[in-house]
Amino acid sequence: MAKSKSSFFCKNCGAQSAKWMGRCPSCGEWNTFEEEILVRADTPKGKSSGMVIPSSPKLIEDISLTELPRLKSGFRELDGVLGGGIVRGSIILLGGEPGIGKSTLLLQMAMALSDTKVLYVSGEESESQLKMRAERLEINTNTEHCYILTETNTQEIFQQIDQLRPDVIIIDSIQTLQSNLLDSASGSISQIKECAAEFQHLAKTTAIPVFLIGHITKDGTLAGPKILEHIVDTVLQFEGDQHYGYRIVRCTKNRFGSTSELGIFEMTGNGLREVLNSSEILLSQRDEDFSGNAIAAILEGNRPLMIETQALVSSAVYGMPQRSATGYDIRRMNMLLAVLEKRCRFKLGAKDVFINIAGGIHVEDPAINLSIVAAILSSVTDIPIDAKTCFAGEMGLNGEIRAVTRIEQRITEADKLGFTRIFLTKYNMKGLKQNQFGIELIPIGKIDEIFALLFEPRKSNS
Ligand code: TYD
Ligand code: MG
Repeated sequence: MAKSKSSFFCKNCGAQSAKWMGRCPSCGEWNTFEEEILVRADTPKGKSSGMVIPSSPKLIEDISLTELPRLKSGFRELDGVLGGGIVRGSIILLGGEPGIGKSTLLLQMAMALSDTKVLYVSGEESESQLKMRAERLEINTNTEHCYILTETNTQEIFQQIDQLRPDVIIIDSIQTLQSNLLDSASGSISQIKECAAEFQHLAKTTAIPVFLIGHITKDGTLAGPKILEHIVDTVLQFEGDQHYGYRIVRCTKNRFGSTSELGIFEMTGNGLREVLNSSEILLSQRDEDFSGNAIAAILEGNRPLMIETQALVSSAVYGMPQRSATGYDIRRMNMLLAVLEKRCRFKLGAKDVFINIAGGIHVEDPAINLSIVAAILSSVTDIPIDAKTCFAGEMGLNGEIRAVTRIEQRITEADKLGFTRIFLTKYNMKGLKQNQFGIELIPIGKIDEIFALLFEPRKSNS
């Protein structure tokens, strides 16, 4: 007889408790516990898969390292993020907001993985919907290796896996799966945990890599990916602004590689396209020089990027000045404005200030600060900055320009893309020689120096 019981789960972190609690002891969130009915059937976990190899203790010396080559996903950008391809037997979570392109990415990967039998399990779309999507994608390799299964019951899925014996499994999405072992609804925390654990067991015992798609809402509260982070080997995050074409795959956990890699894609009319030369697309094509534009040499993960920052400063028409930033933290922007007000004596308090980062990309690297400040100053003075000039530096509260990490990499990228001068802090000049690079290095110590160099001479002429 199956024993019925219920349990409480935290919606935020997935912690389990026998009774309701107001505050989750593990993540500290309030009012996140919800009751779920569990029915534990007597079938032991993973029994449904006949491919399971029983395990026994082994001496670490006796374990032979028969490392199979990693599978290539067909996308160089994705392989890079995974640390050089798909590791056999690994379980990979791809999280992202609905509509960002998770299904598209993995279906495209499934179709591009030639000579590899792929099973794409979809609980969200029908066969014909998937076929329609596949038709849209610009892949004309023969796809006799890519199987579609529309099923949500894990025991049924395992049976099909037993018969088909695929080399790669894709689950779209973990929130739609349901295990017979539990009675709660699909998408509930206990189901998500159970289904993920079943697939983890399958991946580890059969060496088939499993991709799990998981939805996250904007505030990240929806149950799912957060709970799974410690079960899976690799967590990939698919992000981007839905109104822009660019998408970034970021790795936040990887047992088989570094987490500092980053993949850039562009959503086109026929599927995702890899963006191998990222810097060029993040710089807007302009023939004229407009004031308020400055280019930053930033690092996203290990990757140097040249990115355009724009600022617009205008007199506030309504009583309360407006401050708005896209792709940049508004508190950091307010900090920069306060420093400019104090150190450069700009009256910015009564101005509207808007900041925009090209491509809809959110930038965390503090090295972008100098470029933002330069863009603001350019907009205030209405003097354009030459399009072949770029910036890399962080600004401190006293208006001093601080050193940034891996400056050589940034300079080399700027040099490669044909920039003629880069503003950086003098504290970054240690070990750097001007004649190493074709680009002119302009070391500065304080923000007023930038102002004097870029905006003052011409201002006094006019
Ligand atoms: P989808 O992969 O369904 O997103 P997710 O699985 O993350 O929810 O992608 C949905 C969006 O992508 C949808 O708004 C349409 C767009 N899209 C394109 O622009 N081009 C394409 O070729 C495809 C297949 C989708
Ligand atoms: Mg989808």
